[in-house]
Amino acid sequence: MDNSLSNKINGNFKGKDIISLDQFSQKDIKILFSLVPKMREIAFKAMPSKILAGKIVVLLFYEPSSRTFGSFSTAVKQIGGQTVEILNPQQFSSVVKGETFEDTIRVFEAYSDAIVLRHPTVGAASKAAEIARLVPIVNAGNGIGEHPTQALLDLYTIYEKFERLDNLNLLIAGDMLNGRTVHSLIRGLSLYPKNTVYLLSPDELRLSRKEYSDFTNRGIKIIEIQNEQDIPKNTEVWYWTRIQKERFENIKDYEKVKNKFVVSQKFLDTYAGKHTILMHPLPRVGEILPEVDNDPRAIYLKTQIRNGTYVRMALLALVLGKS
Ligand code: CP
Repeated sequence: MDNSLSNKINGNFKGKDIISLDQFSQKDIKILFSLVPKMREIAFKAMPSKILAGKIVVLLFYEPSSRTFGSFSTAVKQIGGQTVEILNPQQFSSVVKGETFEDTIRVFEAYSDAIVLRHPTVGAASKAAEIARLVPIVNAGNGIGEHPTQALLDLYTIYEKFERLDNLNLLIAGDMLNGRTVHSLIRGLSLYPKNTVYLLSPDELRLSRKEYSDFTNRGIKIIEIQNEQDIPKNTEVWYWTRIQKERFENIKDYEKVKNKFVVSQKFLDTYAGKHTILMHPLPRVGEILPEVDNDPRAIYLKTQIRNGTYVRMALLALVLGKS
């Protein structure tokens, strides 16, 4: 709808495309988070809500998804809206007949009040925002680029636990190069002072040098490590991620690096602190063993997932709701 990444939220979410964490300030995140407890109450107590009454949200997902798709679908309905759900348009829409991305966006714009878009191409969400003049686009993951709504729910989960988003030591592990959740999360953490982020990854999967300098230029301290022995003891947050198999051209390259850093109970007990929280955007494919799931520090299957729905409810309410 409103076309550029200079489209800052600036305290007003109404009708804005949500493409990147770069659009947000501390104040915007505070506004969003202030709505989340109410959204949790609506969902938890099954309170009827008309925040999105009469609104239709298209979920257009060119890549597979469980959480983002499921929680957006739930979020819309929890606050009184309806969804049109197009999973895998390459197979189940007129994309099969050769319809272009541009026309596909125009078609669904005509039927909806917002489009939530997941796409394998980095530029897809901003391109959709340029095409769709009448409805906002919400980026639900653009290739290896960003996943802003995941970062918002991750930040909320950290905030809920520590009551702050500054002055934190965090360990992010896995695929820094291709992990869009990581790219958005670091952007979010950069908004707050005195955060230090340790990045644990195989050498091949370090952040691109461009992103590394882009992030460090924002003032956030980034320390790259490649060995678990270098994990500092004082980290409040561990954020584990999957090696993104689908981004590899050669499966042998994937096999070489997959599961290089696996969190077992022993690993957690050896390297994490007593009060470290263990997060993961999921899905996991072996990098956190199920034996860890019941450890009180493991919150990836608990609050982190549930917060996805509440934070997306709050975001949709601000972007689309009556106010
Ligand atoms: N975290 C996340 O984006 O999961 P899905 O791919 O299942 O949506």
